[in-house]
Amino acid sequence: MTKRDWKIVNPGGSRRVVVTKELPGERWLWFLTAADCRVEIAQGDDILAAPEIVAAFADHVDAAIGQLTEAWSADTLGALAAAGALIYSQYAVGYDNVDVVAATRLGLPVGNTPGVLTETTAELAVALTFAAVRRIAEGDRVMRAGAYHGWLPRQLLGGLIYRGTLGIVGAGRIGAAYARMMVEGHKMDLVYYDVRQNEELEHSIADYAAFLVAHGERPVTCRRAETLPELLGAADVVSVHAALTPETQHLMGAPELAAMKEEAVLVNASRGPLVDEDALVAHCRAHPRFRAGLDVYENEPAMAPGLAELDNVVLVPHLGSATTWTREGMATLAAANAAAILQGWPAWPAVTGREDVLPFLEDEKPPHAAPSIVNADDLGLSQYAAQAEAKEGKQ
Ligand code: DGY
Repeated sequence: MTKRDWKIVNPGGSRRVVVTKELPGERWLWFLTAADCRVEIAQGDDILAAPEIVAAFADHVDAAIGQLTEAWSADTLGALAAAGALIYSQYAVGYDNVDVVAATRLGLPVGNTPGVLTETTAELAVALTFAAVRRIAEGDRVMRAGAYHGWLPRQLLGGLIYRGTLGIVGAGRIGAAYARMMVEGHKMDLVYYDVRQNEELEHSIADYAAFLVAHGERPVTCRRAETLPELLGAADVVSVHAALTPETQHLMGAPELAAMKEEAVLVNASRGPLVDEDALVAHCRAHPRFRAGLDVYENEPAMAPGLAELDNVVLVPHLGSATTWTREGMATLAAANAAAILQGWPAWPAVTGREDVLPFLEDEKPPHAAPSIVNADDLGLSQYAAQAEAKEGKQ
């Protein structure tokens, strides 16, 4: 193990927090220093392996803030708990790299960062959709190669999104936000596939359909598919927004790709292993008019052999949440989770959207609560009640 540099903030703090990557913004550090934490931040862009993370806990650590690129296995979490930590806080909304069952068994709360990524990630999925359909990356390559010799009637023809059919696989926060952007912006009909019905999404699309009718336009439609193949056969654009679990791994494999329309578009800004990347390469090779837009990869940062050579695929490096506002907000929520648990504060009620977490991001006196603890119920953590805090005279 090569020796790493660590940046120390508030060296005199009585609580020790290990942070495995430098995070953007300043507000997150305010949460930790206000909780009397000494913050130790690993320097460098390489991904810390488990032994290095465990070594950083040393004799005692009160909390760790980690990354989605690290394996927070039962062993690593066990070492964290053994070093006296009261929380593992993940700098991400997704936590498929964290053994939450083990954390719960160890009595360790696991924090995450919902609310600040929803629209940002949905917008990236929109960008990938259009980049793939309208062949933006190919066009960019033509220009940079000096290969544009004048307008041509048949150059780089793509597809039309407007009034097409959109299929979303997984209608949670991000899937629903993406669906609304595509439906309300481009008048697409929506088909969604999810184990749970999303009534809020259905109602908002119904309201939009009524609005169109009131303006003399044909309405859009929304329906929940009973099976994935039903959605795949109907959609011109399929965007995957499911959480990664053992059940959803390779949700989109060779049979599912074969069930899609010949000229359809597949977008994935969720988690790479949802798509069988080798199968996608084979499918895109065999169907040059099929397109894909990918933000995430099965074995990040690696790509499946052949993927980078395909012209009908647009590739970006896991940028879904990459806006300054969101990444700084994620840092604030991750730090607020750690600071709150260290101070014995309750969990914030479930986050449904951006408005729920704004008090943590903007208020001068943010709530005395942990914004999002994924195993709060299993650990029996008490839930924040605004009235109680008001009684204590905070507001
Ligand atoms: C997350 O937070 O899970 C995202 O993948 C980061 O962009």
